[in-house]
Amino acid sequence: MRPAMVSEASASSPEIRLSGLEQRYRTEAGGEVLALTGIDLSIRRGEFVVLIGPSGCGKTTMLRIMAGLIRPTSGTVEIAGRPLWKGGARDDSAVQELGVAFQEANLFPWMRIEENIALPLKLRGVPKAKRLERARALTELVGIKGFERRWPRELSGGMRQRAAIARALSLDPHILLMDEPFGALDAMTRDRMNVELQRIWMMQGCTVVLVTHSISEAVFLADRIVLLSPRPGRMDTIIDVPFPRPRDGDSATRPEFQAIVRDLRKRLDAMS
Ligand SMILES: Nc1ncnc2c1ncn2[C@@H]1O[C@H](COP(=O)(O)OP(=O)(O)OP(=O)(O)O)[C@@H](O)[C@H]1O
Ligand SMILES: [Mg+2]
Repeated sequence: MRPAMVSEASASSPEIRLSGLEQRYRTEAGGEVLALTGIDLSIRRGEFVVLIGPSGCGKTTMLRIMAGLIRPTSGTVEIAGRPLWKGGARDDSAVQELGVAFQEANLFPWMRIEENIALPLKLRGVPKAKRLERARALTELVGIKGFERRWPRELSGGMRQRAAIARALSLDPHILLMDEPFGALDAMTRDRMNVELQRIWMMQGCTVVLVTHSISEAVFLADRIVLLSPRPGRMDTIIDVPFPRPRDGDSATRPEFQAIVRDLRKRLDAMS
């Protein structure tokens, strides 16, 4: 299922490379907003990177640029060594490397869970039996086995988010982009989902870029945390989080973990 596109050249290049990114939006009043500027970042294959920063600093913008949903006003995006945009045209074979999950699970209420998960496969023309088989394997992977035939409204928020992650993984992407995927969940469910996401990531071996507002979530999940400055978002600090995997509830109580949490909090407080 995974598209065979790992060439000799791309094997040595970063999975995602952002160079000189800048994003300006036109406002309805006819003005301009500079949302992001001077973004240079290389993300290694298999790395877990978390973006954090004050509200409105351009995190969602940066993720949408990586997802190929918006074309940056300047700068370049490379996925596995290939430019995502050539002139005005997007390289859709690069987009196939990407799975995306947002804050709201955005499941279609009129489709069963298995149909929601298998939708990207349906759009690709994968036969029904094959895509339902894949959906079943994915429900097992994300921990909602047995709920394949249910409707989204019959699942809890955490389960719906698991289904959304399963859907994002359905095409076996090399890269998973997530914008505050657990932002709408209660604290306990969120902690559990963090452990689950780490497990899924370790099993899949994909590269993850995740946006969050939660400092402890960032430190728990990340190999590297990218802290953006207030708008216009610039690279402020990159923080390495070297703790071994899998991390668990105990990891979060360790002094080294707490020290990074405190440091990050101090940096964020200084921005407001
Ligand atoms: N389509 C748009 N048109 C005009 N301005 C926009 C558009 N999208 C975002 N912006 C502006 O760009 C800036 C960055 O927005 P973005 O949504 O990327 O921030 P964010 O860091 O994700 O914020 P939050 O943490 O609140 O989700 C904000 O000032 C926002 O108002
Ligand atoms: Mg956002």
